[in-house]
Amino acid sequence: MMNKKYAPLFESYRFQNGVELKNRVVMAPMTNFSSNEDGTVTDEEIHYYERRSEGVGMVITACTNVTANGKGFPGEFAGDSDDMIPSLRRLASAIKAKGSKAILQIFHGGREVPPELVPNGDVVSASDIPSGEGKPVPRELTSEEVSSIVRDFGETTRRAIEAGFDGVEIHGANGYLIQQFFSPHANRREDQWGGSLEKRMAFPLAVVDSVKKAVAEYADDSFIVGYRFSPEEPETPGITMADTLALVDALSAKKLDYLHVSVMDFWSEPRRGVEDTRSRIEIINERVGDRVPVMGVGSIYTADDAIKALETGVPFIALGRELIIDPDWVQKIEQGKESEIVTKLDKKKQDELVVPDPLWNAVLNAPGWFPGV
Ligand SMILES: Cc1cc2nc3c(=O)[nH]c(=O)nc-3n(C[C@H](O)[C@H](O)[C@H](O)COP(=O)(O)O)c2cc1C
Repeated sequence: MMNKKYAPLFESYRFQNGVELKNRVVMAPMTNFSSNEDGTVTDEEIHYYERRSEGVGMVITACTNVTANGKGFPGEFAGDSDDMIPSLRRLASAIKAKGSKAILQIFHGGREVPPELVPNGDVVSASDIPSGEGKPVPRELTSEEVSSIVRDFGETTRRAIEAGFDGVEIHGANGYLIQQFFSPHANRREDQWGGSLEKRMAFPLAVVDSVKKAVAEYADDSFIVGYRFSPEEPETPGITMADTLALVDALSAKKLDYLHVSVMDFWSEPRRGVEDTRSRIEIINERVGDRVPVMGVGSIYTADDAIKALETGVPFIALGRELIIDPDWVQKIEQGKESEIVTKLDKKKQDELVVPDPLWNAVLNAPGWFPGV
């Protein structure tokens, strides 16, 4: 029997559009490097998702690129052409068959793409500023190209709808193209897509509008649209908490179904931009109020970690690494076996955990990334 203390994790959640999640636990988006060269999903990848889709209320997939020049990782599955709809459908069906909502994360890597993964090695961004020393100098997108990428986010949304996904998450986080436009580090433009804080928001907001337009045209109200962002950048110039709170206000006016704060630790505190000693997620959640639900994430491993996070008032939490380490996390709590939850990767259990080789190798080759490695 479940310990009563954990009951809040298992309350259903109803979005403003009426869609209900069976509980408050979401699988965080995680790239797995395991798709085919042609951009289709592999059997191994499908099995990996099936293994993790039974307990949680919603699965957010690895990011998929909306254009060929947006591909950010080897073994990333593609969402940039109608040819990919059957592959996307396989993924959506596998997740939904296990009882979870399926959300496709849509993305463009911008200046972070490896040149060898994109046509002609043409790495593009808001401006020609590399993200660091030794990184490729991107080519500044023309304003026509910017508008075209905005439309491509809408096109991939249409494909997600045709493939049977329950929603999309716009990946505006982790330093990729959408964030690059919002960033005063990456974006030095002086046209309608850059300059002031307002103009740096123009691309993220245009992407939201393009996605919402596709939903209005091809889906009904039950289709979920979330938006993920990173609250701060370490560089100066760079995104500050104050910038992010302004973006959050603008996003809150867009009738999104949820906002997702991308941080590695749920309890991480602001670097700069606000005088506040609470965590970034708490500050953002307070600012948003009841305009749109906020999803928290970051280093949640135990049932108690999850409850403590929910007590801040965020309606749901996402788990990334922990669901790779223990795919039965939710079921164990539900059955009163939370003491059996594994919180360090068991390096002998790849088969039992159903993790494809490329992801398994990436994890093992990055000491410190996963507990136990
Ligand atoms: C293997 C791996 C791949 C990831 N890929 C993505 C991704 O495709 N999109 C994304 O928004 N975040 C990605 N992330 C970040 C996670 O969604 C999450 O924010 C982060 O791991 C912190 O949560 P956790 O402590 O529960 O793992 C990835 C993280 C990991 C560990």
